Amino acid sequence: MKKILVTGGLGFIGSHTVVELQNAGFEVVIIDNLSNSKIEVLDNIQEITNKKPEFFNIDLRNKKDVKHFFNTNSIDGIIHFAASKAVGESVNIPLEYYENNINSLVFILQEMKNHKISNFIFSSSCTIYGQADELPITENSPIKPAESPYGNTKQIGEEIIRDASKVTNINAISLRYFNPIGAHESIKIGELPIGIPQNLIPYITQTAMGIRKELSVFGDDYNTPDGTAIRDYIHVVDLAKAHISALKRLIDKRNNESFEFFNVGTGKGNSVLEIIQKFETATNVKLNYKITDRRAGDVTAAYADVSKIQKELSWQNEKTLTEALISAWEWQKSVK
Ligand code: UFG
Repeated sequence: MKKILVTGGLGFIGSHTVVELQNAGFEVVIIDNLSNSKIEVLDNIQEITNKKPEFFNIDLRNKKDVKHFFNTNSIDGIIHFAASKAVGESVNIPLEYYENNINSLVFILQEMKNHKISNFIFSSSCTIYGQADELPITENSPIKPAESPYGNTKQIGEEIIRDASKVTNINAISLRYFNPIGAHESIKIGELPIGIPQNLIPYITQTAMGIRKELSVFGDDYNTPDGTAIRDYIHVVDLAKAHISALKRLIDKRNNESFEFFNVGTGKGNSVLEIIQKFETATNVKLNYKITDRRAGDVTAAYADVSKIQKELSWQNEKTLTEALISAWEWQKSVK
């Protein structure tokens, strides 16, 4: 059985991916420093899969600890989620973002080289495309100057991996996520934002619960049919499954190059107002919202061209937007 290290495996996308890995017959070891996750997630994963993944509370900024982990564990592949991810926060504390997102990555890649581990999957983001000139966004769209230190860590991260993969045994796939939403159908794992949510869907579900008074729709003067910004919202379980497809491609040595990258989205864009309306229809809950100014750094529209991932990884999103919204709502209602 192949043993896969999942860093950040107790986080939102990480935990869903751990479930899919175990369902697919992989043995999983998680590293997470609980900076943005809860240890209870480990039990919840076990409840879903009947298997408790191995767990290490390690801070990946600590090079010695990373070295020790790799010296004492035999690993066949790595899915690297662990990173700070709040766009706004990254503007205020850039050095912390560079230290956390870049140092950890470099330390892991060094150990992959030292221990001749080949298979690496990286969490990247559509944010690297900025406002693309053409929609839908293909993988060949130019990488635009990053709008935030967070976005820059994803760009730099890809560059580091590309350079390393040229001269080492490392084979890597970068998955460029569009907007992951929703929760596992068991409603045992989901998104757990700390404090006031920055992202649309958790803000919507918390408003629907009455935890937040009112949702702000950031701008209705964009050049879109209803004036609100457009994104490609993908169910987190579909996204998790894309990681399994990517990992298998590397394990089976089906990759065409030592470093490859794929968009992961649905290929469809929805505006903020469409999301609100779909949420209300699906859940029968009325949302309190108002239109406010645009949020700094937001792009008008971003949705993926998914033909590359469909062709090369035989991956296709399966769940609908309505299913994703209902699962997010069920999850919100279950959170204590
Ligand atoms: N929005 C609102 N009100 C809110 C929150 C969001 O109107 O309270 C709008 C935003 O302006 C945007 C859309 O809803 O138009 C989606 O916003 P999110 O914050 O949910 O997602 P983003 O597209 O801004 O950000 C996501 C990830 C980032 C990643 C980025 C890449 O959260 O990590 O995609 O574009 F960098």
